[in-house]
Amino acid sequence: MTSTITIPRPDDWHVHLRDDAMLDAVVGYTARRFRFAMVMPNLIPPLTSVAAAVAYRDKILASAPADSGDFRPVMALYASPEVDLDDLRTGIADGVVAAVKYYPAGATTNSEAGAASMRDLMPLYEVLADTGTRLLVHAESTDPTVDIFDREAHFLENQLAPLMDEMPELLVTVEHVSTAAGVELVRDRPGTAATITPHHLARERSDLLADGMRPDLYCKPVINSEADRVRLVEAATSGDPAFCLGTDSAPHPTTAKYGPKAKAGVFNAAYGLEVVAETFHSHGSLDALPAFASHNGCAIYGVDAPSDHITLVREPVDSELATQFTTSAGDEVVLFGVEEAMQWTVREADPKG
Ligand code: DOR
Ligand code: ZN
Repeated sequence: MTSTITIPRPDDWHVHLRDDAMLDAVVGYTARRFRFAMVMPNLIPPLTSVAAAVAYRDKILASAPADSGDFRPVMALYASPEVDLDDLRTGIADGVVAAVKYYPAGATTNSEAGAASMRDLMPLYEVLADTGTRLLVHAESTDPTVDIFDREAHFLENQLAPLMDEMPELLVTVEHVSTAAGVELVRDRPGTAATITPHHLARERSDLLADGMRPDLYCKPVINSEADRVRLVEAATSGDPAFCLGTDSAPHPTTAKYGPKAKAGVFNAAYGLEVVAETFHSHGSLDALPAFASHNGCAIYGVDAPSDHITLVREPVDSELATQFTTSAGDEVVLFGVEEAMQWTVREADPKG
């Protein structure tokens, strides 16, 4: 049976576009498909000033291909004691800074400039609360005594929830929520939002570890249990406006993925939407795709709804699909979701309907 759905142009509320040759290689995948893209600031050095965010946004736009359509990168600053709070206020007032991203120091790629504890940055949160700007949180404990699969729940309980109790007016987005505990926190606290990734919706930890270790599925927070995955799918397909698509597309060269210590990150900008569509289709919830991929994020971030649409058709693709790309610097990156992409064709919708 063919399934077809036309949805307003989707947004990606969490993406890593990197810099230089990698930026040039990946930006088109995001820019041709999505409208808004919340661009993560974990560059080297991290984006801690408005000037750096403006320069990066200009670079992204210059690097985007000519047929990118209405692509709009939106910028997040990196939460650090280095952020000048007057600069932050100006960036927010000028509409340049859309959010601030909190990284626990040492939790993931380029997180060294992050904080040891959420409590270390209280004055910064005051500015966010005051201006109604969202704090985007990588919720993962860095306590080495905590089991890797329990680190999201541990962080939520010991770091994020106490902060939210103390500052109920602070607007929080829990990024790449990966567990039932994350879904519960978001549901229990009105105003809180969460992004969910294609890979956390479609894979569980046995896929990562059971049949040969799969570096291409290794990310932070790690893909968790099947029970957690089921809760994520329920949340994403429920229509609950707190949950929206954030791919967390994070390219790493194969040289960094296939060594003795794989870097965390899944590159899914190319086929992530097909992976989400296949997940919703399998769940019998394709009708819930527009809310998750197109509407909820716009409402969370207070931006206008898109005027154009795309159509997804579920019919086997009869051509070969790319499984990797190579940057101009010679780095190869593996594409996630080829299997699902073989089942879907995505095209621009006829503007006349
Ligand atoms: O898997 C991840 N990769 N998680 C993150 O939080 C960062 C990202 C990256 O930048 O590679
Ligand atoms: Zn990320």
